[in-house]
Amino acid sequence: MTQTAVTTTTQARIRLCIPPDDTKICVVMVGLPARGKSLIAGKALRYLSWVGIPAQIFNVGSYRRLVSPHPSAAFFDPGNPEGERLRRAAAEAAMSDMLKWFRAGRGVVAILDATNSTKARRAWIKKRCDEEGIETLFVESLCDDEEIIMNNILEVKTSSPDYRGQDPEVAAQDFRNRIRNYEKVYETIDEDEKSYTYVKLINVGSTVVINQIKDYLSSRLVYYIQNLHIRPRSIWLSRHGESEYNLLGKIGGDSDLSPRGEAYARALPGLLKQSGIPQGGKFVIWTSTLKRTIQTARHLAAETGFEKLEWKALDELDSGVCDGLTYEEIEERYPEDFAARDEDKYNYRYRGGESYRDVVIRLEPIIMELERSENVIIVTHQAVLRCIYAYFHNMSQEQSPWMEVPLHTLIKLTPRAYGTEEQRFKADIPAVSTWREKGSSAKHPPKDVNK
Ligand code: SIN
Repeated sequence: MTQTAVTTTTQARIRLCIPPDDTKICVVMVGLPARGKSLIAGKALRYLSWVGIPAQIFNVGSYRRLVSPHPSAAFFDPGNPEGERLRRAAAEAAMSDMLKWFRAGRGVVAILDATNSTKARRAWIKKRCDEEGIETLFVESLCDDEEIIMNNILEVKTSSPDYRGQDPEVAAQDFRNRIRNYEKVYETIDEDEKSYTYVKLINVGSTVVINQIKDYLSSRLVYYIQNLHIRPRSIWLSRHGESEYNLLGKIGGDSDLSPRGEAYARALPGLLKQSGIPQGGKFVIWTSTLKRTIQTARHLAAETGFEKLEWKALDELDSGVCDGLTYEEIEERYPEDFAARDEDKYNYRYRGGESYRDVVIRLEPIIMELERSENVIIVTHQAVLRCIYAYFHNMSQEQSPWMEVPLHTLIKLTPRAYGTEEQRFKADIPAVSTWREKGSSAKHPPKDVNK
């Protein structure tokens, strides 16, 4: 569970699209077991952390496990008073911790991850939140697609701590019985709850019903959640091939590829093929509007016929007055800036340019579009690629700007239910290293990589 301490003034909050200090939202998950609630909750948390909004998941099952770690399906039978009592106690404990968390000023969005399957339970949550000035956003996942449910059952029986150490077939059967017990009392959100703010996702977003969204942050969250899909797909990331500016150690600019960069552009279609591309399905190529990414994707587009899109939002971090300088020159001309950037690289904004935080804000539509898309290869720049990579790997703001992303390397990311798998494919074409370690000399490292 991630907590990000963001302390900003109100003005800065507005500029950074962070909600005002007093905004508190409780996202209440609703749905039978195996409807992907925890997956949606986990992704929403990752998205919120990435945009710098402090958030946390409160999972009722984790509280219940403290008193009943491996319950059988009978525990969840609505006719079992002891089970009912313990489950109610777990819900109260999660609610109480969540309220303490809000009161302590530790966050903006809490996600209450549980079935919350009856109107009475939802009314209780709404009342408790109303009393504390916390807005509620109910997110119901309804699903009757057998394939999706079976995949979720498979995931639960192999990964849930409830079934740890048990025979997988016995676990799957017990889990089906648990679902049947929940079905006995399940009430979907309906007319009686029309005053609530809610979103209903039917069969993982194939139909979406949205009701009473009142503020900007909720609408951002709903837009994000409604675009999530769980069809298998991958995302490929590549920096542009080595550029003329890379050879000179200069940052920014809009230079052409070097001869070795051009060789990488020619090698990219083969590298992509080697990484394993799915048969059928849609595939698109995204580049920035700068020459070095467009030139890198040129052969790929010509050989595959894949649709190609140029995005301004994928342009490299704007280094303002430092554009076209080497790190050595920046250290000489702007020593204080150079040190300040080392101190807090994520938040440091180049004079007349951007910070990593600014880049994340302009990349938000890219992430929204990526969540809606099938297979995409993105050819972009070092800082932009670090930000996109940080989203998929839930990397901290302190860590991501220092990440090494070598030239002439294709990264394949495959999102799975509980994390993102990664493979790297290196072209056998040397390139300079543009990576500068924190606190290192300003000298642009002349060494070649991939040798
Ligand atoms: C659980 O105990 O596993 C979940 C409780 C619930 O959401 O019903």
